[in-house]
Amino acid sequence: MRHFLNLMDVSATELIGLLDRAAELKKLRGRSNHPRSLSGKSIAILMEKASTRTRISFEVGVHELGGYPVPLASRDLQIGRDEPLDDTARVLSRYLSAVVLRTHGHDRIETLAAASHIPFINALTDKYHPCQLLADMMTVREHLEQGLEGAVVAWIGDGNNMAHSWILAAAQVGFEIRLACPKGYQPDPDVLERAASTGRGQVHVTTDIEEAARGANVVTTDVWASMGQEGEAQARKQAFVGYCVTPDTMRLATPDAIFLHCLPAHRGEEVAAEVIDGPASRVWDEAENRLHTQKALLELICGLDCAGGQGRAGQGRAG
Ligand code: CP
Ligand code: NVA
Repeated sequence: MRHFLNLMDVSATELIGLLDRAAELKKLRGRSNHPRSLSGKSIAILMEKASTRTRISFEVGVHELGGYPVPLASRDLQIGRDEPLDDTARVLSRYLSAVVLRTHGHDRIETLAAASHIPFINALTDKYHPCQLLADMMTVREHLEQGLEGAVVAWIGDGNNMAHSWILAAAQVGFEIRLACPKGYQPDPDVLERAASTGRGQVHVTTDIEEAARGANVVTTDVWASMGQEGEAQARKQAFVGYCVTPDTMRLATPDAIFLHCLPAHRGEEVAAEVIDGPASRVWDEAENRLHTQKALLELICGLDCAGGQGRAGQGRAG
């Protein structure tokens, strides 16, 4: 039994295998020989924050693999009325094969996962959004001639959960990422240290957009105020002035560079409409690839080795 809380929870080899499998599943979609690897398994999709892409792609993905998706919102559960996290995790383990969770603090998913006897998959926390990176890496592989390993990625904007996930992806796969973030909004030092400790990939943090974007093959960004930071939105708008990805930013990149954004996007803030709706944009493929990569992830994390609806093995009397 294993969890997927960040990109370091799979090996580099597994990660590449997962992206290969996602490409295979994309081809098999709608065909009679599409696998039903989750047959007999029920997977909860528990959202403690809003979601369009993640929620729908997981629900559809579980269904297409022959499993039963159980959509949940914390406000309807006792967890929303302060039932202890440990108790909740133990109970969920008696019914389900895995839990996909979107929540606030990363410590919350770590606590639930530690008490659980079934896998937890991180569908976004304040710290990481690893499922999004699976789709982003798949999209880079599909659209860049030099592939993922040879890519130079420019991140423009907030050093947030998406930036952290890109940093760990660079360390896992071995590509180069340059992040241009305003002072005070740079990535967390512990994430940079974690990436550096692998000895793989190159991570460069700057405040200078030109330094990040010049010669990049991928330019990517995200909202300036993430979910939970709504109260800081005005202050952030001031701090991020100049950090919009514009056609000028794209001209600094290579002529075949692509633009990615996890969505939802704010045109005129972190990205100009001409870029996100322009020829370099691959955001719709990126959104679609959430489905294929998460199906491959579900197969890896809970298709083969997790109990069919009873994560009970070895939990002892107290569990
Ligand atoms: N990119 C992403 O995670 O989108 P949702 O918030 O709509 O799930
Ligand atoms: N950084 C954003 C990503 C949304 C998919 C947020 O956490 O709100």
